[in-house]
Amino acid sequence: SVKTLTNSTSSSHLLRRGYGSEAVPDRKVAVLGAAGGIGQPLALLMKLNPLVSNLALYDIANTPGVAADVSHINTRSEVKGYVGEDQLGQALEGSDVVIIPAGVPRKPGMTRDDLFNINAGIVKGLCQAISKYCPNALVNMISNPVNSTVPIAAEVFKKAGTYDEKRLFGVTTLDVVRAKTFYAGKAKVPVAEVNVPVVGGHAGITILPLFSQATPKANLSSEDIEALTKRTQDGGTEVVEAKAGKGSATLSMAYAGAIFADACLKGLNGVPDVVECTFVQSSVTELPFFASKVRLGKNGVEEVFGLGPLSEYESAGLEKLKPELLASIEKGIKFANQ
Ligand code: NAD
Ligand code: LMR
Repeated sequence: SVKTLTNSTSSSHLLRRGYGSEAVPDRKVAVLGAAGGIGQPLALLMKLNPLVSNLALYDIANTPGVAADVSHINTRSEVKGYVGEDQLGQALEGSDVVIIPAGVPRKPGMTRDDLFNINAGIVKGLCQAISKYCPNALVNMISNPVNSTVPIAAEVFKKAGTYDEKRLFGVTTLDVVRAKTFYAGKAKVPVAEVNVPVVGGHAGITILPLFSQATPKANLSSEDIEALTKRTQDGGTEVVEAKAGKGSATLSMAYAGAIFADACLKGLNGVPDVVECTFVQSSVTELPFFASKVRLGKNGVEEVFGLGPLSEYESAGLEKLKPELLASIEKGIKFANQ
């Protein structure tokens, strides 16, 4: 259940003076797939987050070790490990935010859609459990193909009668992280100051960085913009190839996942003006789901922002991505309703 400062009845239990003199509400975060390549560093980063009071680490194997290890870190949250389906309910119960990096990663030569057959079933099962044990949690979907796993989650929640479009997010933060890094390198501006919206979806050409809106402004040639766009779209593949069969991005993804979960927690806690790009149910285009800038708040999604002015190159990219993104969305919906 979502606890807030205003509606709490037993404030001594709900509030802690975690850091500084500010009261911080209790928040439980569950990571599903916590023993994996993303899960482990993500568990570490969430253990470092002072907004978290309880950290539940769930996987089908190896979570006792990961949880014992992370639990020794002297930060606020209490860490518990849960292993196997029997313990999934306990892991989820009372969660405010559930982060899902469970599932297989790509090997060289594969597309994210090649993961569908295995990951769709994994995500479906986990979302059925979420609808049962923590139907009010904000769900951060990392498992690929995100363009399909988010629609699968929505359908599972609809069937269970728990769907709230404000609480389901496809995590596309890594695309933003990459776009910022690559832009700063090319534009020779301090990376910490860079902002770049990335819209669309999370696979190949469906990833559409809007460098025309990047700040600080820089005078980049159209060749530069094209190269930056392609590199952002192929960022995942760049890592998959460099890892040569040992998986896909894990460390940068854990960083991105931690940033997005932190934004969700801040929103829940009533921090104003928390905005991240994320793949959500959307009416920004004619597609039922689309990534764009979203303001996060006490109910999850507070406002889905439009795309803003696009360059000709970006408008063409937008039209080009729509059929592929729609097909991936429909594939997810169809699977969930079989
Ligand atoms: P990994 O194989 O290292 O870890 C996956 C973990 O999931 C394993 O520990 C496995 O035991 C666990 N798992 C499998 N089935 C499960 C189930 N039913 N319940 C709970 N846990 C289960 O893989 P990884 O590198 O951590 O990647 C995980 C997923 O994240 C992949 O699908 C990958 O494509 C995706 N990914 C997404 C992004 C993104 O930007 N959204 C970025 C990187 C990776
Ligand atoms: C990424 O963008 O790194 C992830 O989606 C993993 C992948 O398969 O590329």
